[in-house]
Amino acid sequence: MMLELSDPSLLKQAALVDGAWIAPGADAIDVLNPSDGGLVGKVPSCGSAETSAAIAASVAAWPEWRARTAHERCALVERWHALVMENLPDLARIMTAEQGKPLAEAEGEMRYAASFIKWFAEEGRRVGGRDVASPERDRRILVMVQPVGVSAAITPWNFPAAMITRKCAPALAAGCPVVIKPSEFTPFSALALAELALRAGIPAGLIHVLTGMPQEIGETITSSPDVRKLSFTGSTRVGSLLMRQCADTVKRLSLELGGNAPLIVFEDADLDNAVKSAMASKFRNAGQTCVCANRIFVHAAVEEEFLARLSAQVSALNAADGFVPGSTIGPLINQAAVDKVAAHVEDALDKGGRIVATGQGREDGQFVRPLIVAGANSDMRFASEETFGPVAPVFRFESEAEAIAMANDTPFGLASYFYTRDISRAFRVAEALEAGMVALNTGSISMEMAPFGGIKQSGLGREGGTQGIEEYLETKTFHIGGLEI
Ligand code: SIN
Repeated sequence: MMLELSDPSLLKQAALVDGAWIAPGADAIDVLNPSDGGLVGKVPSCGSAETSAAIAASVAAWPEWRARTAHERCALVERWHALVMENLPDLARIMTAEQGKPLAEAEGEMRYAASFIKWFAEEGRRVGGRDVASPERDRRILVMVQPVGVSAAITPWNFPAAMITRKCAPALAAGCPVVIKPSEFTPFSALALAELALRAGIPAGLIHVLTGMPQEIGETITSSPDVRKLSFTGSTRVGSLLMRQCADTVKRLSLELGGNAPLIVFEDADLDNAVKSAMASKFRNAGQTCVCANRIFVHAAVEEEFLARLSAQVSALNAADGFVPGSTIGPLINQAAVDKVAAHVEDALDKGGRIVATGQGREDGQFVRPLIVAGANSDMRFASEETFGPVAPVFRFESEAEAIAMANDTPFGLASYFYTRDISRAFRVAEALEAGMVALNTGSISMEMAPFGGIKQSGLGREGGTQGIEEYLETKTFHIGGLEI
């Protein structure tokens, strides 16, 4: 299918290095639409040479960019935001074509992505250090903040735009060039965003997009002493590998890694709200998010009612091509993802689980109909692994202490959700849950002003919020002695 766009030049079948678009060669990578396997386009398979060129161009461009005032830099970042908003329908169509998510959801992600650009255009103007009380009369101590330097962003396929802007907007606003390695499954959203950044006037040496397979690009980035910062969103396995690779050059790291989010419904919860937010959290992006409720714990007293209400909602979900009106669940990203979900369901059924509701729509190719598995238990793979698909396993619990223990029984600690109307319990549970983000009576935690990130093996650092730009700033202490004061 030819992708219809108002501005076809936003679909860049190329990589971007130092303002030059590099066309695909003989070893080009096919980017396929996960709904039907059709070709969306081709991109070059960049390697060490292109990566080194992007890093060298960043090094060359950095002094002029960091010398600009924050106001000058942020005006361009703000212009980038305006162009993203103007081109939102095309950007959403590109995303649905390469990632599969329903068009309305792709538009939602583009708004979310744009919100980070605007937020950091504003935050960039507020960056500053402080002065520290001096122990000596003739000394002053200033704490200055300065851009960390050439930064790299390695981003996943599940949010092809938001994970780019959440890293690149603070980097650019803080005064850093950025080298982007988008997922090989979803490069076109990144390339379109970069094209708009150039149109906004961001200098060519400041933003590069390296398409291709991750290993060679990643190794060149991690081994380069010129790259001072790496931000990665993806699996814990790859995150810890990158961390090891960055050790020799002691880079600053932000890692947003795997999760295994619990969602706990206590016996005093507002059940309609709990069901509504379980739906939003579990089935967003067909369950392919790091913050999806992966394990739903429900108090025995309300389990039956919760399952009945959740089943009614899940039965109405519709797995369909993201361009088809009424689609609520797109395809999974590849066959490996489909196989993993099937293996988790099979494992659960072998261990006593039962399917209590199934959604509608397609179940061919990479489509998986959403479903609920009741009777989940801690021996099942759901308990210890991210399913990353539209399956809601429901576990039963009897006491608050048991729910907390089950929720924390994981090496991950990204998001947690719980539902109660008891204010004392709200504080007890919020303080006890081991997670970087805890949500009470809501399933939505993703917004530009709120710091996003995990503890334990879910990662390091925070994105978004006021913390998000600090990840791109170094602290320099400036002592001034011998003052005639
Ligand atoms: C992720 O799944 O990696 C990010 C999700 C979000 O930003 O909400």
